[in-house]
Amino acid sequence: MILRIALPLALMSSLVNAQDVERRIDALLSRMTLEEKLGQMSQSTSMRTPISEPIRDEIRKGRWGSFLNAGSPADRAEAQRIALKESRLGIPLVFGRDVIHGYHTIFPIPLGQSASWDPELIRDAARIAAREAAGEGIQWTFAPMIDIARDPRWGRVAETLGEDPYLTSALGAAMVRGFQGGSLASPDAVAACAKHYVGYGAAEGGRDYNSTWIPEILLRQVYLPSFRAARDAGVATFMTSFNALNGVPATGNRFTLRQVLRDEWKYDGMVVSDYTAVTEMIPHGYAADNADAAREAALAGVDMEMVSTTYFDHMKALIQSKQVDAKLIDDAVRNILRLKFRLGLFDNRPQPAAETRPVAEALDTARRLAVESVVLLKNEGNLLPISASIGKVAVIGPLADSPTDQMGTWVMDGRAQDVQTPLAALRRMLGPDRLVYARALRNSRDNTHDGFAAAADAARNADLALLFLGEEQILSGEAHSRAFLTLPGAQEALVEEIAKAGKPIVAVILAGRPLTFQGASSRAGAVLYAWHPGTMGGPAIADLLFGRAAPSGKLTITFPRTVGQVPIYYSHLNTGRPPSPGELGIPMGNPVEPKGYTSKYLDVDFTPEYPFGYGLSYTAFEYSNLRLSGATLRSGGTLTVSADVANTGTREADEVAQFYIRDLVASVVQPVRALKGFRRVHLKPGEKQTVQFTLTANDLAFYNEQAKLVTEPGRFQVWVAPDSARGVPGEFTLE
Ligand code: NOJ
Repeated sequence: MILRIALPLALMSSLVNAQDVERRIDALLSRMTLEEKLGQMSQSTSMRTPISEPIRDEIRKGRWGSFLNAGSPADRAEAQRIALKESRLGIPLVFGRDVIHGYHTIFPIPLGQSASWDPELIRDAARIAAREAAGEGIQWTFAPMIDIARDPRWGRVAETLGEDPYLTSALGAAMVRGFQGGSLASPDAVAACAKHYVGYGAAEGGRDYNSTWIPEILLRQVYLPSFRAARDAGVATFMTSFNALNGVPATGNRFTLRQVLRDEWKYDGMVVSDYTAVTEMIPHGYAADNADAAREAALAGVDMEMVSTTYFDHMKALIQSKQVDAKLIDDAVRNILRLKFRLGLFDNRPQPAAETRPVAEALDTARRLAVESVVLLKNEGNLLPISASIGKVAVIGPLADSPTDQMGTWVMDGRAQDVQTPLAALRRMLGPDRLVYARALRNSRDNTHDGFAAAADAARNADLALLFLGEEQILSGEAHSRAFLTLPGAQEALVEEIAKAGKPIVAVILAGRPLTFQGASSRAGAVLYAWHPGTMGGPAIADLLFGRAAPSGKLTITFPRTVGQVPIYYSHLNTGRPPSPGELGIPMGNPVEPKGYTSKYLDVDFTPEYPFGYGLSYTAFEYSNLRLSGATLRSGGTLTVSADVANTGTREADEVAQFYIRDLVASVVQPVRALKGFRRVHLKPGEKQTVQFTLTANDLAFYNEQAKLVTEPGRFQVWVAPDSARGVPGEFTLE
C-alpha cells in the first residue's frame, strides 16, 4: 500500500530532476530533423477559430514550437492534442499570451501596482493571473515588463514598475514568483518572461521603438539590475527588445545576450525575440536581408523567433554555408525543450478547454491592490475623506463610467461586463437620490463643450463635485506615446466651468502615465491619482473617497511640472552648478560675472511637480530619531540604519517608509539619492514603529569607469524618508 503511494511520488520527483530532463532532451534532440528543430524555434499567431486544416497539418509536422495570443481554450486544447498525439515526436506546443496585469480579473496597470510598494500583494495578483490564464490553457505569459522608464511620454511607461532599479527589481521578482508559483510544472503556474531585454525604456524622445544610447556603466547600474533580479528569481524566459542599443539592435546584441545573460549570469532559460524584432533588424540598418537577420539573431542567442519566419526559411542554408554552427541550433532547441519539460508539458500537464470567470478571491485582491496603488496628491483642508452624511454629490467626467478605459492597456481577456466603475460603486454607496451624474465629455479627447451646461448644473445642485478625469485606455501602451502630457480634450476647460459653481471639487485622475494638470489641481481641493485601476477600480476609489480605506500609494515615477522638464527623475547626478531651492527666472549676472548661472529653467521651477516616492495620507506621519549602528561600515560587515515613524494624525493607515543613500565622492559621480530599501508599515493613531534597514558594502558598490563593480571608501549620506525629497538624514563612512 505504502509502496504504491511512494512510487508515483518518486516518479514525479524524478521527472523534475534536472539531470533527467537533460537526458530526455538529448534523447529527443537526437531524433529530431533540422526542420523539426527550426519548427520548435518558431512562434506564430496564425492559429484561428476554428483551427484551419493547413494549421492542423503544420502542427502535425512540427512546424511551430509555440503559438502566442492565439485561439480559444478549446482551440488550444485541440492544437495540443494534435501536437502530442499526431506529430511524429509528440512534442507539445507552449501557448504564450500577454497576461500583463491580470487575465480575466484585471489588476491596476503595472505602474499603478508599483505605487503600492507591496511585493506580497503584487505577487498574489500575479498568482491569480497565472491561475486564471493556466485555467484556460496558457502556460507562458510575457510579463513582467521590468524596463526602467524615466520618460512619461513613452506610452509603455504604463507597463513598467517605475523609474527605479531597486524597486523594479523587488517588484519584478515578486511578479515572477507569483506567475511561476512553487513549481512551473504545477497546473496553475505559467512561465514568466523578463522583458524587454534591454534598454527599451530609454527610447529617445519617449517615442516607442526608438533608439537608445546607454553607456555601459549606466546600463549595468540602472537598466540591467531588474533583469538580473528576475534571473535570480528563476524567471523561465527572457524577451529581447525592439530598440537598437548603442547602435546594435537588442535582438542581435551579442554583448547583452551572450556575454551578459549567458556568460556572466549563467542563464539557462529560453530567450524569445519580440514580435518580428528579428526582421526589424533590416529597417534598423543592421541586417541586409532576412537571412542576415536570422544569422544575427541566432549568433546573438535568440532561441525562438516571434512571428517572423527567418529561422525556418533561412537557417538550413546558413548552416550549409557554415555561417551558423548547427550546435547553436541544438543549444536553442535545448533551451526551448527544457522550458517545455519544466512546465510538465511532456508529462500530462492538463490542457483545459473551457472558459473561466473571475472568482471572489481574485476580485478582492484586485480591490485591495487598487486601493494600495492610488496616490493622494493633494488634500487641502482635509477635504477627503468625504463624510458619509454628505448631501448630494455630482459625479462628472468622461472616466467615471468607462469600463474599458479603466482596465488600461493590455487587457486581451478582461471583460467590460466584469468591471465595476466608480459611478456604479458610488451609486451603490450613496443611493440614487444623493448622486447626480453628468459625463460632460464623450471621452478624454473630446473637445466639444456640449455637455458642459448639464455638468455645471449638476455641480450647482450638489454639495461636492467629484471629477473623473485623465486619459482613456488608448492613450497609453505600446505604440501610444504622446508629445504632450496635459489632460487631453476639453478637460481643463471643463474643470474651469465646474469651478464657477463654487462647490468643493475633488479630482480623481485615471491615466496610464504621469500627466501635467496644474489647472485642474489648482481648482480642486483634493486630487487622487488612480492610474488605470482595473476591474475593481470603482469600489477601490469609492472606499478611498469615503474613508473606508486610507490612501497609502506612493509615486514610483517623478511627475514633471511640464513636459519640457523630461527626462526628470529623482536619482539624477548633481551638476557643478546646482540651483538653490526655489531658484527661478533670468540670471542677474553675465558670462563675466555669472550670477545665477545655475542648472535651472528660466520659466519653470527646476524641481518636479511631485517627487518619486511622494504620496499623502488621511493621517500624518512623522519621521524622527535616525540612528546608525556605527559611524563606519567595514568591508564584510553590516551597518543598520533605523528611524521612528509615528502616526501623529487621527486615523489608522499604512505608510511606505523609504531608505535612500548618497555616495558623496566617487571616481564615477553617484546620484543625489538612490533607493536601498522600503517598508510598508501599518500604524494606529498615536502609534510609533521603528523601521530598520541593513547595509553591507555590496549595497554601496557601483560601476567604475572600466564598468567593473567596485566599492570605494568614503562618506555616505542616508535618509529614512516619506519620499525622495525629504527624510531624516544621517551619515557614515565606508572604510
Ligand atoms: C510586442 C510587445 O513589445 C511585447 O511586449 C509583447 O509581449 C509582444 N508584442 C507579444 O504580443
